[in-house]
Amino acid sequence: MPTLAGKHILLGVTGGIAAYKSAELVRLLRGAGAEVRVVMTRAAQSFIGPLTFQSLSGNPVRTELMDSVAEAGMGHIELARWADAVLVAPCTANFIARLANGLADDLLSTLCLATEAPVAIAPAMNRQMWAATATVENVRRLESRGVALFGPGEGEQACGEVGPGRMLEPAALLAAMAGLFGDRPLAGVRVVVTAGPTREAVDPVRFIGNRSSGRMGFAVAAAAVAAGAEVTLISGPVALPTPAGVLRIDVESALEMRKAVVATTPDIFIAAAAVADYRPAQPAAGKIKKDAGTLTLVLTRNPDILAEVAARRPAPFTVGFAAETDDLAHNARTKLARKGLDLIAANPVGPSAAGVGFDSEENTLELFWQGGERILPRAPKGVIARQLVQAISDLYRERRKDHK
Ligand code: PMT
Repeated sequence: MPTLAGKHILLGVTGGIAAYKSAELVRLLRGAGAEVRVVMTRAAQSFIGPLTFQSLSGNPVRTELMDSVAEAGMGHIELARWADAVLVAPCTANFIARLANGLADDLLSTLCLATEAPVAIAPAMNRQMWAATATVENVRRLESRGVALFGPGEGEQACGEVGPGRMLEPAALLAAMAGLFGDRPLAGVRVVVTAGPTREAVDPVRFIGNRSSGRMGFAVAAAAVAAGAEVTLISGPVALPTPAGVLRIDVESALEMRKAVVATTPDIFIAAAAVADYRPAQPAAGKIKKDAGTLTLVLTRNPDILAEVAARRPAPFTVGFAAETDDLAHNARTKLARKGLDLIAANPVGPSAAGVGFDSEENTLELFWQGGERILPRAPKGVIARQLVQAISDLYRERRKDHK
């Protein structure tokens, strides 16, 4: 794990019950060698007192923007410059909305605007607030501006409900913060990621599709950018913002995706898209009428984009995904060998895999490669993607060393 020793962490605490966990986070950050300064919003002080953070951080806690005594010491602009990274944990729906709208009406929001350091948020709220359209749109805006999203996790909430919205545990936040300072193992490496579903036209208004939301592939693209790669993201139709620093190419069908992939020459190819294996052999030119009692569609095979890329000579480092309802390890290993891949990331899908895989916020992956395997336990897709990209870059660099 990259080191946090000597790093200046500005921890923003907003008004949520998870604020008590941030005290433990301060302890862990200091234990890892970071210097921590804490800024609390007014609402946060209803949950936990500044004195707790002052004792744990060893620094005075700032709460007010217009504080003449504090401003005579380290003023808010100096504090913004002091930070190597800003983490807002817990981050409420209200604070997310204020950040997304660029408000600077208290010390913490002003610091987030004034800093040039990376900003990360660890959301914590009731599951319905997390799912609210306004929150979803605000989070997307922040992510598209490069704000790192740590969590939230799923589970039992303070309000008694169960679902997504829990702040990640302090240990997970510590690891995620360390990741912000990670070296850039893929600097200068060209990475192409496919994501999302494909749509195969039946007629001008209907298509055959699948449940892929694109979240996994988009998270992989963002993680690859964070690792220093030059990333092209080839995406089927999804409703997601483009991660910062990524070149995005939108496609609709498997044939369009193949054409876009063929035009690229990556060093690493990661196929997270759920590409349709078949398409209607002859899409109707006009809308099909419901005259007959039954309708038979003749389907034809789509090209296997991933296998084609793996068969190139020289081939890029090729990573496939496998979506499996059963026999995950056996089927994934078979695909690894049959398609000639360097690595395959298999995820369980279907009714027995609720909350992971297709169209979910979280995932779990089993990685297989020649001579090794590893499990990435269930976590938000952003966390899984960072772990996957780290594993890919380790193997990629190993292979390059062997070829020298
Ligand atoms: O998008 P999300 O909602 O976040 O969900 C993520 C996911 C479940 C879609 C993702 O994690 C995933 O598993 N993607 C691959 C899904 C899939 O199509 O698996 P498969 O086992 O059918 O295909 C194996 C591999 O071959 C995949 O890498 C696929 O991209 C590739 N393939 C498949 C068919 C084809 N014609 N061309 C391909 O390149």
